[in-house]
Amino acid sequence: MLILGIESSCDDTSIALLDCSDKGCFVLSEKTASQIDVHKKYGGVVPEIAGRMHAEKIVPLIEAVLENQPKPDAIAVTSGPGLITGLLVGVEAARVLSYAWDIPLVSTNHIEGHIYSTQIQDRDSSAASLPQNDSKKIYFPALALIVSGGHTELILMKNHGDYKILGSTKDDAAGECFDKVAKLIGLTYPGGPQISKLALEGKTDAINFPRPMINSGDYNFSFSGLKTSALYWLRDNHILPTTLNETTNQSQLKGIDSSIASLPQNDKQVATNISINDFCASFEQAIIDVLVVKTMLAAQEHKPKTIILGGGVSANKKLRETLATEITKRFPEISFQIPELKYAMDNGAMIATAGYHHALKKEFTSWNKITADPNWKIDN
Ligand code: KG4
Ligand code: ZN
Repeated sequence: MLILGIESSCDDTSIALLDCSDKGCFVLSEKTASQIDVHKKYGGVVPEIAGRMHAEKIVPLIEAVLENQPKPDAIAVTSGPGLITGLLVGVEAARVLSYAWDIPLVSTNHIEGHIYSTQIQDRDSSAASLPQNDSKKIYFPALALIVSGGHTELILMKNHGDYKILGSTKDDAAGECFDKVAKLIGLTYPGGPQISKLALEGKTDAINFPRPMINSGDYNFSFSGLKTSALYWLRDNHILPTTLNETTNQSQLKGIDSSIASLPQNDKQVATNISINDFCASFEQAIIDVLVVKTMLAAQEHKPKTIILGGGVSANKKLRETLATEITKRFPEISFQIPELKYAMDNGAMIATAGYHHALKKEFTSWNKITADPNWKIDN
């Protein structure tokens, strides 16, 4: 089955055509337009700008992806959760194509897309002729940790399409926390990858940041306290003004941004014996500890056969390695799956792959009924 995947829920307009069968989902053609360079200037995603840019890019991208390709058999489009300004553009494009080509439409959940990002296979004729690669197979029950700029969720998956959210963040998502703290030290949006790069050369135990809710006994998360703690540490060590508080506006931060951004190397100290690399390594470790402890707790209780790590933060090398090590040590029988790096961030291929499993069950939504839902929960 040929599926066209359409993703526009945040700051990437991404279109992909996949050939899906019982051998797996193979990418035939894909194109993504990232808006990061534009949103960078504002320190985060501006919904109105995002919507306009998706609208400008979506038709040329669909044309480019379908050039010299056959007509798809179905369309999968992200209809939530995400920014309404972006979702509407993708859903409208999908609706028009479904009507014009008379092909069915799958309304696809963005988080479900991140779960299936681990399944995407690059086009390779020899692999395509083999039975499905077992390392890519999801064995049920499966446990998914989805960590991105907008979400931090632990999800139990009993079968394709059967989800239960075990826990989620009460405030900031993990990626959001990375991005906000990165902004405090003068790094541009999205700050997660830059913090993790600086952290490579730092000491994880240099600063004892809190691990919020690590012992709460449930599967919920909270990262805003960690962000505040990072802010206070910077203030108390005279890296930020002493009058600074959580609501300090960005114009007050402007003057200090460049001074801290000019301290990226380990030999430059931001406080006695502590470098900016140490700050990043200690902060990153606090987030990873919480994510790993909660995932292990859920694995112990729910005994999954597969653990999936997905979402933009799954690109974090330390998180991938730490989770892999813990799973091998404590649950060697569990298969651990992570997306290829290029599919960790938002992409159309993951939406097509998730949509395929619904298309197999003929779970379609008519072009005149599909709606965008910015708050769509995967288990609703
Ligand atoms: O899934 P995604 O592309 O978009 C959302 O659905 O939110 O995730 C983007 C998030 C950003 O917050 C970004 O800082 C974070 O993923 N991210 C990382 C890394 N790479 C991307 N966070 C930590 N370490 C990384 N290496
Ligand atoms: Zn995402």
